Amino acid sequence: MTLATPHLPTVSAQTLAAVELALRIPKAELHIHIEGSLEPELIFALAQRNGVALPYPSVEALRTAYAFTDLQSFLDIYYAGASVLLHEADFFDMAWAYFLRAQADHVVHTEIFFDPQTHTARGVPMGAVISGLQRACEQARVQLGISSHLILCFLRHLSEEDAIATLEAALPHMGSFIGVGLDSSEVGHPPEKFDRVFARCRELGLRVVAHAGEEGPPDYIWQALDGLKAERIDHGVRCLEDPALVARLAADRVPLTVCPLSNLKLCVVRDLAEHPMKRLLDAGLCATVNSDDPAYFGGYMNANFEQTVRGLNLTQDDVIQLARNSFEASFVNDEQRQKWIENLERTVQLGKALGA
Ligand code: HPA
Ligand code: ZN
Repeated sequence: MTLATPHLPTVSAQTLAAVELALRIPKAELHIHIEGSLEPELIFALAQRNGVALPYPSVEALRTAYAFTDLQSFLDIYYAGASVLLHEADFFDMAWAYFLRAQADHVVHTEIFFDPQTHTARGVPMGAVISGLQRACEQARVQLGISSHLILCFLRHLSEEDAIATLEAALPHMGSFIGVGLDSSEVGHPPEKFDRVFARCRELGLRVVAHAGEEGPPDYIWQALDGLKAERIDHGVRCLEDPALVARLAADRVPLTVCPLSNLKLCVVRDLAEHPMKRLLDAGLCATVNSDDPAYFGGYMNANFEQTVRGLNLTQDDVIQLARNSFEASFVNDEQRQKWIENLERTVQLGKALGA
């Protein structure tokens, strides 16, 4: 078996079987910031191509700076990394590199966040951002068989007026993205700050998701559900502090796009053995595994699956539930969803027949 993460502590045969299953089954990724897939090598290559000066002398020096204490300490470096993106081809190259990694991890569908304000504030046209990403999505569909949607995220540390102006700038590209989200510095920027712009997005027929309950309190998750009418909550791990909220999320099957390695690297949890994923599943929630910002947090989808399974001794049934949840939570039509779930079940059965 090829492990996604070498040199991990020894675990039981049952856990190893769950890891093996997790690595080979088809899955969907629903929480990936495409700017967070920029590997240091590509940051340096694009900086050179575009004549952008970086405040780090080498790839190694940049990687060494990836020692985060909280969300903000990460975001400062993440925005600095994104400063090398100037042209349509840069957005294409970044997204194409992500798709190749996704394919290696058996990701068959992905819903990709992008942060236009990070780029338009530097004078990059909205059209360059969206068309570069869109071109990579199309090539991934044709060449890799991976389907995808784009989700435009508003930066919550900026004003609602800025978000409204961003939506207006994106209107000519409406057919290129399926929905909107809310990301960046959470604490001090509650979802209710964006009630009006999200209402406008819903009128336009866009799907709605929002980061909430990563570092922010359960009240931010309530606001995302009742104010923004979010259909999925990104992260959401702090819901466990509020039993009434857990009951609401379970009753309505509101999916949580959970990102275990992100939670570890941003000190939301001290150790994956303490990660809430198992408690979320046991509470009957539609929790999913995702990579968030894989170039910064130490791994793509399979590394997230592998380390979570090992840390929590998840079972094969847990793994199948997580993959099934990823399809249930995706914004595809029911016919396509059913096809993927059947394909997942076939892949599981095939492994059993071969004695895996
Ligand atoms: N949280 C909030 N905003 C983000 C993140 C995250 O994990 N990654 C990129 N933008
Ligand atoms: Zn995120």
